[in-house]
Amino acid sequence: MTQVNTKQTVEPIEVLAPDPVAKEQASTPQPKCDSGHPTLNMFYCPKTGDPLIQNGDKLEAPNGESWPIVRGIPRFVESDLYVDSFSFEWNTHNRTQLDSQTGSTSSEDMFRTKTGLDEEQVRGKLVLDAGVGAGRFTDVLNKWGANVVGVDLSFAVEASHKNFENDPNVMIAQADIGNLPFKAGTFDYIVSIGVLHHTPSTQEYFSRLVHLLKPGGEICIWVYPSQGDYVKRNAWIPFTHRIPDKMFYSWCRVFVPWAQKHPHNPIVQYISKAFPFSNQGLGIENDILDTFDGYSPRFHGIHNPDEVVSWFEKVGLEDIRVLPWDTAVRGRLPEGWHFKESAEM
Ligand SMILES: C[S@@+](CC[C@H](N)C(=O)[O-])C[C@H]1O[C@@H](n2cnc3c(N)ncnc32)[C@H](O)[C@@H]1O
Repeated sequence: MTQVNTKQTVEPIEVLAPDPVAKEQASTPQPKCDSGHPTLNMFYCPKTGDPLIQNGDKLEAPNGESWPIVRGIPRFVESDLYVDSFSFEWNTHNRTQLDSQTGSTSSEDMFRTKTGLDEEQVRGKLVLDAGVGAGRFTDVLNKWGANVVGVDLSFAVEASHKNFENDPNVMIAQADIGNLPFKAGTFDYIVSIGVLHHTPSTQEYFSRLVHLLKPGGEICIWVYPSQGDYVKRNAWIPFTHRIPDKMFYSWCRVFVPWAQKHPHNPIVQYISKAFPFSNQGLGIENDILDTFDGYSPRFHGIHNPDEVVSWFEKVGLEDIRVLPWDTAVRGRLPEGWHFKESAEM
């Protein structure tokens, strides 16, 4: 069963449909940064689809529409809309989960398991990290030699841009997955780990990403499973997401370390059954971050693997694989397929 994250309705796009005639004639749009680093001239107007040209601190379309570049980051949204908790979270924990900062391999290990990708596959390829956050997985892709474009709707881009400002293989932009500023057929790989369930409709926003794949390209997603702690948290979200971020975060900073030190305390045992908090063995900062992350977002969809596979089938992906990490699924866009440009959401 498809679970929509909210009562808010999202107009479905015309689902990417295989077109046998066009398949023959398909002219695959080539990204402008195919062989080299992502550059500012890879962006297209999310309203008109026209190529954008840099003019000082703006990216301009031929019709005069323009998008600002602020603090080195191209911006295709005017605010962080419903993801303000992530703006707070990733600027507070801008490096907590980055392997390159912690010296651990926990993000790399998780990325391998949730995507099934390895260095060989992505080296020199153009990869979209859709919902980049502070950039823990862009960090892995960058280490593996991929060319990465990280997008996020939230002001997490301030953190991720800073984390990669000296890495020519990485470009960060503030944009909405539902209406991204790229031409169809741009990316060799799209990864979106822990993101789509935080949008108003997990399936719809997934569908919005697929046309950005080159024919033969692959998309890897992981969404929250409809089991265990995710179900318990789902029940709290309508209340906890309303708590001011700083207030809830301050509570996490006090409660999580105290609860971890007193695991046998009856209050801790009682609270943790109804209100699970993190204890991932990756350090207290990670657990504070993860507990905040678990209860603060506006949207929190939960899904089962069959449901996710059905989304992949519906948009015509092939070679669909459910990866060992439950609701982590990967699929390939068939070679030579032609897709209609997405409409605005
Ligand atoms: C839990 S974080 C995951 C970040 C990163 N993938 C990671 O695993 O560290 C979810 C991210 O998705 C972003 N997000 C949610 N809805 C989005 C949208 N419509 N467009 C772009 N980013 C979005 C949030 O701002 C947030 O940074």
